[in-house]
Amino acid sequence: MLLTRTVLLSLADPRRQSAARQPQLYDRDVLATTGPAQRLVEAEAAYVVANPESRRLHEERARFMPGGNTRTTIHQPPFPLTIVRGDGARITDADGHEYTDFLGEYTAGLYGHSHPVIVEAIRAALADGIVLGAPNRYETALAEAICTRFPSVDLVRFCNSGTEANLLALSLSRAVTGRSGVLVFAGAYHGGILLFAHGISSLNPPFPWIVGEYNDAEGAARLVAEHARELAAVIVEPLQGAAGVIPGDPSFLRALREATTENGVLLVFDEVMTSRLSTGGMQQLLGIDPDLTTLAKFVGGGLSFGAFGGRADLMGRFDPSRPDALQHGGTFNNDVLTMAAGAAGLTQVLTETEIARLNGLGDRLRNRLNAFAVERGIEFCATGYGSLVGLHFTRGPVRNEGDVPEAAELRGLLHLHMLECGFSYGRRGFIALSLPLCEREIAGFAAAVEEFLTGV
Ligand SMILES: Cc1ncc(COP(=O)(O)O)c(C=O)c1O
Repeated sequence: MLLTRTVLLSLADPRRQSAARQPQLYDRDVLATTGPAQRLVEAEAAYVVANPESRRLHEERARFMPGGNTRTTIHQPPFPLTIVRGDGARITDADGHEYTDFLGEYTAGLYGHSHPVIVEAIRAALADGIVLGAPNRYETALAEAICTRFPSVDLVRFCNSGTEANLLALSLSRAVTGRSGVLVFAGAYHGGILLFAHGISSLNPPFPWIVGEYNDAEGAARLVAEHARELAAVIVEPLQGAAGVIPGDPSFLRALREATTENGVLLVFDEVMTSRLSTGGMQQLLGIDPDLTTLAKFVGGGLSFGAFGGRADLMGRFDPSRPDALQHGGTFNNDVLTMAAGAAGLTQVLTETEIARLNGLGDRLRNRLNAFAVERGIEFCATGYGSLVGLHFTRGPVRNEGDVPEAAELRGLLHLHMLECGFSYGRRGFIALSLPLCEREIAGFAAAVEEFLTGV
């Protein structure tokens, strides 16, 4: 049975504003007579009408930034909403519409918007001054929290983004092994200039890349053995995020550990997204110790952050007192505000209990949507693990980027429908839950997706 819009909106959030919304475009009759491409044109036209201020701000940005954009990930046609405020799990756009935030800043927003503990930590640090040009009193707490949570991380260094962390982990691997090749997996996103979606991005550094298929244990082990003499490292997301929130099979990830150990190649786990899935990331859940681990996103408390760490014999090469020390500078590596915010988050907010609660919400969302799609025979599935969820217009299974259908129009239509219902998430079907979310919002989100699927 179709839920009425009133019920959906009340499930979404009772505080939702009554600002003018776009008209209902997902009526069954309309869906039956009009193809998805035409429906998307209509939905986007309504979106333009409903968001004049976001449009104006986009056009203003475009005068100074290419396409009005400085971060490709957050572009969407015809223009993205400009978000002016965030509070808990709520965000407000420039036209006054409120949304429940299921994007969670692509995992960096795990703590929600303006968590009081984090805000207080930033305020306290700010009061004593920033850009101090020296070690400060916050970085040890953050480093200790990371090394304690991730037993494979004996020593850690900070940087400013996940991209940088991965570049550094790979460059360190190349320096210590004397080999230059890197095995990556198709669909991987290791950063803005470490992109392997449908090929190797022309902006990637010119390392000799070898690209394997994600979740193909045998194929990956074979590639490691065949290329052992050229390979410095294998880098892998234990769950591919950008490719479609695709969990790595434990057997695949174990095969990587075995093959790299046997062949003297370093194994790098990119836990930039997955570190949130337990206190010690996906590696803890799997019982696998990589040689190096990279972190970013929420670990900096919601400020710009990256970190890479691992075995003492590898990371020790950065000890400046060693004659063979590797140099690694970075003005903001120990940024006072980031160190304080990150340490507060890990030591005071992100408990094992909270992680389990959030993973439970994600599991229930995924299970409910999958059961709904199966019961009705709809070509749709939800992927992921715990608090990370992917939405796809296929029955699945989704095991690598080749299994992810483009379905651009349906993705666009679902996204606009969800915005209309007061929910924001990544248009490509990306959901990262944040701590302020509860069962109520999950139920509202699921009901809104189900309403759309009933129309399709
Ligand atoms: C798995 C993974 N690695 C690395 C990165 C890059 O992190 P950053 O955006 O901080 O450079 C991302 C960003 O989404 C990511 O998902």
